[in-house]
Amino acid sequence: MSLEPPKGPAGTPNLDMDKITESGSISGAANSLINQVFKENPYFAAGGGLMILGSALALARTGIKSGSSLLYRQLVVDLEIPSKDKSYLWFLEWMGKYPQRSSRHLSVETNFIQHDNGSVTTKFQLVPGPGSHLIRYKGAFMLIKRERSGKMIDMTNGAPFETVTLTTLYRDRHLFNELLLEAKKMATKQNEGKTVIYTSWGPEWRPFGQPKAKRVLPSVVLDKGIAKGILDDVKDFMQNGEWYLQRGIPYRRGYLLHGPPGSGKTSFIQALAGHLDYNICILNLAESNLTDDRLNHLMNNIPERSILLLEDVDAAFNKRGQTDESGFKSGVTFSGLLNSLDGVTSSEETITFMTTNHPEKLDPAIMRPGRIDYKQYIGNATPYQIEKMFMKFYPGESELCAEFVQKAEGLGLDISTAQLQGLFVFNKNDPQNALAMIETLRHQNHVFS
Ligand SMILES: Nc1ncnc2c1ncn2[C@@H]1O[C@H](COP(=O)(O)OP(=O)(O)O)[C@@H](O)[C@H]1O
Ligand SMILES: [Mg+2]
Repeated sequence: MSLEPPKGPAGTPNLDMDKITESGSISGAANSLINQVFKENPYFAAGGGLMILGSALALARTGIKSGSSLLYRQLVVDLEIPSKDKSYLWFLEWMGKYPQRSSRHLSVETNFIQHDNGSVTTKFQLVPGPGSHLIRYKGAFMLIKRERSGKMIDMTNGAPFETVTLTTLYRDRHLFNELLLEAKKMATKQNEGKTVIYTSWGPEWRPFGQPKAKRVLPSVVLDKGIAKGILDDVKDFMQNGEWYLQRGIPYRRGYLLHGPPGSGKTSFIQALAGHLDYNICILNLAESNLTDDRLNHLMNNIPERSILLLEDVDAAFNKRGQTDESGFKSGVTFSGLLNSLDGVTSSEETITFMTTNHPEKLDPAIMRPGRIDYKQYIGNATPYQIEKMFMKFYPGESELCAEFVQKAEGLGLDISTAQLQGLFVFNKNDPQNALAMIETLRHQNHVFS
């Protein structure tokens, strides 16, 4: 036998629903509920009523909580930007400069700015520190949370992982896009008129030093017609994206510049990138810790608007298990290079320049369209180049120039344009002395002092 009233599934006393609902209205129902609980229910009298009230309250509270989080999920949107993403730094910079900001919690980011003459200024930039910030952007409130993950560390650079989370009302979600575009525009504006040089840093591309002032194309003196030929071809390629797309051909083009060292191959490609308003990603295939995997990954993750420059491509071809002094095998193989060249998939155009001093070492298989489509020899200084370079350094000195060209030819030597530059830089304002010193060109690695 039992004195207790029958219990429901949750351990609460069973109430007589008929008695409650028969009163018709809600307040009536509540009244009769109270009546039933207080007067007719012996369990309540025993003190259990408090417990019921408590659990009802708790239930209501979790109800409100989950209701509000449901509401939250319905009404607001989050945007998470992890620190690995390109837009992360853009966003922080943008935010640092954004005037309508509630928070005073900032952290500092130090930038060096190198001027054209080599001097350096330091600029401190204030960016939002870790924590929460509230901003108002185009009339909408946005909550910005910058969080650091204490435990996770980005293995590529040793920095802790961070995320920035932007929260705003659902109806304002289109502002995320506008904001990010604005941040990107601001970041790219700073690099206007500059060429960013990327080098590989582990598996990713990183800007190498500060963006450099563009080198103007005519400052690299190539033999007659060479520069124009390449430039016209690149431009033609860039204007024909639709053509490639319609025919299902991968939109890429490869150029090979070959010839002796110091003839301006690298300089020309950098100047060309600047001229086209592109950045440049440089990878040296002779690097000993470059593997096929890394090459492939890097080539498929080129920053936008960049020309890929693969230096010393012959390095991939003369592997017969040879090792360098440190016992390392340089890792890129011929097939690895070909696979990477073939495998580059990008919605944008891919322009690859390759250089080598030893074209005879290249396997003919690399000359296939899509790998190398344009091959150009860049040689030692021709009389045409000698004249042009002389006149560039010493404008108006055409008589001396003619003499210089004649004498240089008389040496009967291969003279690289890099050597000429060395001689002219040493005799900055002294063409007479440059002429007098012409014999020094006999020595490839003459050190002027
Ligand atoms: N044709 C050229 N016109 C102007 N400068 C040149 C030329 N060739 C070489 N130089 C100068 O010589 C140096 C080395 O040139 P670089 O482009 O590295 O040669 P490469 O890549 O062919 O070995 C650079 O400082 C560059 O300015
Ligand atoms: Mg070079």
